[in-house]
Amino acid sequence: MSIVDNVNELFWKQSRVNGVTHHPATRDAKITFQVPHVIPTNGRAPIPLDIACRSKRDQGRVYLKAWSEVDKFSVVLREADEPGCDFMAFKVLNEEVLVQLEKDLVDYGVEVEQVPAEELKDCGRRVRFTVPSGHAFELFADKLYTGKWGLASVNPEAWPRGLRGMKAVRFDHCLFYGPELAATYDIFVNILGFDLAEQVLDPEGTRVAQFLTVSMKEHDVAFIHHEEKGKFHHASFYLESWEGVLRAADLIRKCCSRPHSGRTGVPAAPAPDPVRSGAR
Ligand SMILES: [Fe+2]
Repeated sequence: MSIVDNVNELFWKQSRVNGVTHHPATRDAKITFQVPHVIPTNGRAPIPLDIACRSKRDQGRVYLKAWSEVDKFSVVLREADEPGCDFMAFKVLNEEVLVQLEKDLVDYGVEVEQVPAEELKDCGRRVRFTVPSGHAFELFADKLYTGKWGLASVNPEAWPRGLRGMKAVRFDHCLFYGPELAATYDIFVNILGFDLAEQVLDPEGTRVAQFLTVSMKEHDVAFIHHEEKGKFHHASFYLESWEGVLRAADLIRKCCSRPHSGRTGVPAAPAPDPVRSGAR
């Protein structure tokens, strides 16, 4: 069984598409991003999210979403030798905004690459670029709307019944490590419309960590200074409570590491030798 298969075993497998036409939310901001998606390469089985919905495997990829997310997927996994992140993408308001942002990036001197529609299943065309920290990002305007998993679009219940595992509510943010934070900041803030939510300065006043937001969240993406380019630290998923975080930690230990005894972290005793124990 491959690592991707292993990950799939951890996820809730039911998929539901309700066929509701997608009308993207509009906001007052000049530039609006919606749910980002991220592709962690899972050289080691990552997180038993119990993401509620998945599509069939496509080109060795697995498409996943958390239950409250309305587009078809927010996370794509592919098999790889090393763990990491291929890119993080942000959804923009519409094609017009996508065209404008692409032009703004090019005018700023950023090299952009076109990724055709359907390169990711049910996703529109994407514009890819790499920031000075060495990380690849993408913008896109269209993705198939499938609605929240397990909830009707009319008179919905508060949450879907039958959730299992981590019960992740939604994707939240990514943290990347790399150099050239100031130049990376310029692109996110001056071109893409992000705001600086928090920062960490060293004694000389140089920014060594920057937390950037384009929404109501504390941050959507963060960078911490590191000499090596393009390092991926983590992707985060929002859970309902601290109890949910503890439960998620238990599931990670249960599914992704050696057997342990409950929450003590003590490795479970090996199974008794059936011959020496007299079992046979
Ligand atoms: Fe984080």
